[in-house]
Amino acid sequence: MNTLSLSSRAGLLKPSPTLGITAKANAMKAEGIDVIGFGAGEPDFPTPEPIVRAAIDALEKGFTKYTPSAGIKELREAIAAKLLRENGLSYTPDQIVTSCGAKHSVYNTMQVLLDAGDEVILIAPYWMTYADQIRLAGGVPVVIHTTGDANFVPTYDQLKAAVTPRTKAIVVNSPSNPSGAVLPRQTLKEIATLALRHGLWIVADEIYERLVYGGATAPSIGSLGNDVFEQTITINGCSKTYSMTGWRIGYAAAPLPVAKAMSNLQDQVTSGPTTFAQKGAIEAYNLPNEAVEGMRAEFESRRDLIVGLLRQIPGIKVPEPQGAFYVFPDVSAYLGNDLATDDDLASYLLTEAKVAVVPGSVFEGNGHIRLSYATSRKDIERGVARIAEALGRRTA
Ligand SMILES: Cc1ncc(COP(=O)(O)O)c(C=O)c1O
Repeated sequence: MNTLSLSSRAGLLKPSPTLGITAKANAMKAEGIDVIGFGAGEPDFPTPEPIVRAAIDALEKGFTKYTPSAGIKELREAIAAKLLRENGLSYTPDQIVTSCGAKHSVYNTMQVLLDAGDEVILIAPYWMTYADQIRLAGGVPVVIHTTGDANFVPTYDQLKAAVTPRTKAIVVNSPSNPSGAVLPRQTLKEIATLALRHGLWIVADEIYERLVYGGATAPSIGSLGNDVFEQTITINGCSKTYSMTGWRIGYAAAPLPVAKAMSNLQDQVTSGPTTFAQKGAIEAYNLPNEAVEGMRAEFESRRDLIVGLLRQIPGIKVPEPQGAFYVFPDVSAYLGNDLATDDDLASYLLTEAKVAVVPGSVFEGNGHIRLSYATSRKDIERGVARIAEALGRRTA
């Protein structure tokens, strides 16, 4: 008899912890509680006006029907031009599959690369979505752990030790969510060396590439050489660079057979991304650099502010993030007794300090918390003062 059960795949799914914390903080706000949110993974700026205008124009011109699953050619051409201009990557429009966000492109990638039992190397702390999407595709995440003392950079020996005969791919996310770490060129070379030696795919999630600070650069691993390029899937999108999180436009650029497989997958799952959002994205990729530079510079000064303030709290170790809009301090000095884990500490901060942060264990970065500084300077000052006060009531 039918038992009305769900698939074992559905059993792998849990609610996103970061979206969950934002929802909890929003619910407290709705009750009139003055909660300061450091949970958000999205820029707090409006989408630049020319992009909005382009989408409105598209709507008014009736650009409201299906497009090819990989996206309209004009958008794929604009992305190919951007990848050549900014990243030194020479893709043809056929090698680019636009999607409903970089998250969707990571999903497509895992679906077309992995068979059951294939291993994918992740460098922790890592964006938890990778692990879930690997498992959904039947794969197995293999995790390398890094520390703030090492700027969250893995050693060559660590990377080498993670490779097994089942390894299919390695994920490179630089700048990183949640640590803000930017991998040095030397580490990218080491990853490339291993990928070439063992025939591994490199999944390069470059969604935060434009948000780098203090003169840091985040090179595209695919630009290290033609052989590496042939094994790399480069993923990016409009969300973080252009403050377009809700538009849901991302892309993967990949060797042709991979791109074709992703496009076939989209044929059956989502079709192309929203038509008029694609028109907005074309405008984004044609914007002058200054449109992005203002937001980047603001994030940099907020980074300096929040790092400086957090470092005044006794016992907290605060590695300086070089990119993205997250800071990932080590709060293990405050753990113990009733606050045994970073999860407990995050709950304590929400109830006692009315400050929402994300526990580091969500990213396999136990003993840390993640704070997003995609929020106003005033809230950064008020929020960190509240954290300092609440932690001051405990001994580090
Ligand atoms: C590392 C990383 N990749 C991808 C994404 C998702 O981007 P998108 O909005 O384009 O799906 C995020 C969003 O938080 C992220 O942190």
